[in-house]
Amino acid sequence: MSGRAPARVGVLGGGRMGAGIAHAFLLAGAHVTVVERDASSADAAAVRVRGIIARSIERGDAPPGWIERGDAFTTSTEIAAFAACELVIEAVPEDRALKADALARVEAAQRPGAVLASNTSSISIDDLAAGLQRPERFVGLHFFNPVPASALVEIVVGASTDDAVVEAARGWVAAIGKTAVVVRDSPGFASSRLGVALGLEAIRMLEEGVASAADIDAAMELGYRHPVGPLRTTDLVGLDVRLGIAEELHAALGERFAPPQLLRTLVAQGHLGRKTGRGFYEWSTP
Ligand SMILES: NC(=O)c1ccc[n+]([C@@H]2O[C@H](COP(=O)([O-])OP(=O)(O)OC[C@H]3O[C@@H](n4cnc5c(N)ncnc54)[C@H](O)[C@@H]3O)[C@@H](O)[C@H]2O)c1
Repeated sequence: MSGRAPARVGVLGGGRMGAGIAHAFLLAGAHVTVVERDASSADAAAVRVRGIIARSIERGDAPPGWIERGDAFTTSTEIAAFAACELVIEAVPEDRALKADALARVEAAQRPGAVLASNTSSISIDDLAAGLQRPERFVGLHFFNPVPASALVEIVVGASTDDAVVEAARGWVAAIGKTAVVVRDSPGFASSRLGVALGLEAIRMLEEGVASAADIDAAMELGYRHPVGPLRTTDLVGLDVRLGIAEELHAALGERFAPPQLLRTLVAQGHLGRKTGRGFYEWSTP
């Protein structure tokens, strides 16, 4: 399916994810406005977006000189800057109260037909929709990190989300050259639920001495063509991050997501994966 990018896109929060999302829509021809909480964060977001653009020019994904496309990219500290946007994607930190407040303020600044999306990786879309005036125009757009290198976007459909919004979202995801999967709002959506299930079982197998970490990963990499095995993936994501998601899924979905003791122990010891130099593997570069 091919699609057309919205003419004007807003991104709230220009951090790691927001900058990548802004870049994806800029590359697809949209005008993009990133709104940040203060002037220095807005400057930092602009540096991040321009850095991603520069790397995509080096890779040949964007024409040289493209960075000069002046007015296509703006930053602001005023949510009112979203007034003309067809689509606004919220990418502020994963904090329920922060997101609820930010989404309500963005919605109040949007024109009525516009779509509001959240890039939350774990908070229920229906919970976030509860504080909105137009929940039918709200949808989850879950991007993956790093955005430029990830082919997938999960479209997370709330109980109130309009079918037309889902269809529009499919078109926009296609327009930025990514593939959408459509998931009903549920704990862990599709990606985290399946990824964490495999990761936790791999940790239990290591705990039980079934095989070494390298052999468990090789079984999935070579036997099932996973590009990266479940234990190495856990090291890359961060053991603390995975433990947090497992605890949420445990509470929502029951015992099959109970975090293994080995995961708790490694996190308590500060072995969080690549970022600390040790997880299930030793890492020389963070
Ligand atoms: N990092 C990942 O691997 C990843 C992957 C998928 C989804 N997500 C989700 O994306 C969202 C953002 O994560 P991130 O890693 O980009 O975080 P981040 O901390 O890098 O960026 C968050 C940005 O939001 C800004 N911000 C904070 N409060 C704000 C406010 N009130 N108004 C405007 N801007 C504000 C911060 O200044 C910062 O630049 C989270 O919901 C996270 O769960 C993250």
